[in-house]
Amino acid sequence: MCPPTWFTVDYSINVWMRPEIPVDTALAVRQWERLRDIYQDLGHTVELLDPLPGLPDLVFTANAGIVLGGKALVSRFRNPERRGEEPAFLKWFEQRGFATLQADSVNEGEGDFLVLDQCILSGSGFRSDPASGTEVAEAFGRTVVGLTLVDPRFYHLDTAIAVLDGRRIAYYPQAFSPESRATLRELFPDAVLADEDDAAAFGLNALSDGRTVVLAKAAARLGAQIRERGFDVIGTDVTEFLKGGGGVKCLTLELRDAPPNPA
Ligand code: ARG
Repeated sequence: MCPPTWFTVDYSINVWMRPEIPVDTALAVRQWERLRDIYQDLGHTVELLDPLPGLPDLVFTANAGIVLGGKALVSRFRNPERRGEEPAFLKWFEQRGFATLQADSVNEGEGDFLVLDQCILSGSGFRSDPASGTEVAEAFGRTVVGLTLVDPRFYHLDTAIAVLDGRRIAYYPQAFSPESRATLRELFPDAVLADEDDAAAFGLNALSDGRTVVLAKAAARLGAQIRERGFDVIGTDVTEFLKGGGGVKCLTLELRDAPPNPA
């Protein structure tokens, strides 16, 4: 995670971002600290990236890259506003001991790539280049299933699909092209389906450790649906980050198979 010290909305690269609407950075800091505390109370270790002035979206560390098997494939952003984040992420992974490489094609990391046991789901249509799927499949030796996003509100895959555990997901069907909806129905016949209000509250931008699912408090129905499947659910407020087009999952990058930390 990266503290939201410099978080604000002063440019617009998605439909949620309206620079004329002020961001309460102090409230953003409290919401972020609460999320960090939830993870720590669940027994997880939270590692930090230093915030940098002039890079307000650096808080959305899900977009840093894809982390799997001790390897980090660092992102290449579509928008010039975020390309300045790449060296910060690259340096962090290198110093932290990950085998680090950088994507050649536009690839917005775990914003658009969701890791499951049997495959990696990839999203394109707004940000990551469909060609980035091939690079990811090669880097990690896993099958990549491409999905096409069609609603600009759900411009990253992690705004439209929540991974609940290695094989189960929740998603908002209308965010996808008809072909991709058919693919999802076939792969995940028992998936939890979110309604439009819960999806628009960024309820699917959730983080699960396989047992407890942390999601936006406003997505109460989705929380109840997920609880019915046997998960613990914790709702938390991330309303300030919604102004940047982000939520719980965007603020978090899971460090799968991290090398031992020398510190
Ligand atoms: N303002 C950021 C952007 O538009 C938000 C990123 C949200 N991250 C995510 N993983 N969906 O790039």
